[in-house]
Amino acid sequence: MPVITDIEDLKRIYRRRTPKMFYDYCESGSWTEQTFRENSSDFDRIYFRQRVAVDLTNRSTRTQMIGQDVAMPVALAPVGLTGMQSADGEIKAARAAEKFGVPFTLSTMSICSIEAVAEATTKPFWFQVYVMKDDDYLARLIQRAKDAKCSALVVTLDLQVLGQRHMDIKNGLSAPPKPTLSNIANLSTKWRWGLGMLGTKNRQFGNVVGHVKGISDPSSLMSWTAEQFDPALDWAKIEKIRDMWGGKLILKGIMEAEDARRAAQIGADAIIVSNHGGRQLDGALSTIRALEPILEAVGDQTEVHLDGGIRSGQDVLKALAMGAKGTYIGRAFVYGLGAMGEAGVTRALEVIHKELDVSMAFCGHRDINDVNREILRVPRGFSGDWD
Ligand SMILES: Cc1cc2nc3c(=O)[nH]c(=O)nc-3n(C[C@H](O)[C@H](O)[C@H](O)COP(=O)(O)O)c2cc1C
Repeated sequence: MPVITDIEDLKRIYRRRTPKMFYDYCESGSWTEQTFRENSSDFDRIYFRQRVAVDLTNRSTRTQMIGQDVAMPVALAPVGLTGMQSADGEIKAARAAEKFGVPFTLSTMSICSIEAVAEATTKPFWFQVYVMKDDDYLARLIQRAKDAKCSALVVTLDLQVLGQRHMDIKNGLSAPPKPTLSNIANLSTKWRWGLGMLGTKNRQFGNVVGHVKGISDPSSLMSWTAEQFDPALDWAKIEKIRDMWGGKLILKGIMEAEDARRAAQIGADAIIVSNHGGRQLDGALSTIRALEPILEAVGDQTEVHLDGGIRSGQDVLKALAMGAKGTYIGRAFVYGLGAMGEAGVTRALEVIHKELDVSMAFCGHRDINDVNREILRVPRGFSGDWD
């Protein structure tokens, strides 16, 4: 195994080993990619306060997210097409998460189906749902998640319409890739990926194909989204989903205090401050900057989680110190998966865990639950003083 010391190492190998179409799909934001970039670069504007001569023995990053024990407060975010980054990618990532002791969230737009992931794992995972126009399909999807014993439903609210990512259009993104000349030329250089794909049956959208009628091109994420995702989604429909599900509910994609209040009112167990990794509304604030006003509005009523731009344990520590109760990584685990399969996801989690633990220690803490804003230097006006 190559020596991996940080998430960037995994990204370099991922880029070499994965078909261009799927690397670009992962590594894009929408339009100018301002929000995608700032999700990460805004973490760099926050500094730590180093402390010394504090007893640093017996450290722990263990805590809880929505009442579930976690080895560290870092879940794997739902990522569509994960099974195209590496054969059976969702199963590999779920297994790595399970062994590490952190939650795995399966996307509606996964390649491996809910049932396939349930069969290959031993602990409950979380299921992310996109709200569909077709109520019967949506109800069946939620029932399938219940039957698979998923322990939380993550409802994504920021994708009623799709943000444009230029490269997906240029590359003709599809699952599986269409046999065009440029795809064949690129795939022929990715033998490891190809061998994996030849060895699995999971090559289409597993939660969709065979479960829904009337899609013009079942391999195209873009046409499926345009035809099926519900542009009329409102809070009444979210309440209906809450009642259908009846279990732990997480609402994902909240960026404003007003929306956070509505989410708390309808009884969400957690909200995720998220801009979809900068893939939807370009020009939205980074999530780390959007966090504080949301915490002020609902921090005592529901758990506030955050994703977007996290590439290190230092980023996780900053989000927690700002007040988030949990975080998620999207691209950081995909880099690991595309680089080295399950072992790569494990490595990504190990890297982030070590960085989190050691940075926490440098800031003078032994227990992640005791970390607060006092370990940070946050620039004045960081969370906004907006008109
Ligand atoms: C390639 C890719 C696919 C994604 N697919 C989904 C999805 O199917 N459902 C969803 O709710 N979010 C999806 N997201 C958003 C992630 O859940 C998460 O919000 C985001 O990746 C966090 O930012 P980060 O990648 O910088 O960690 C996706 C993100 C990426 C990068």
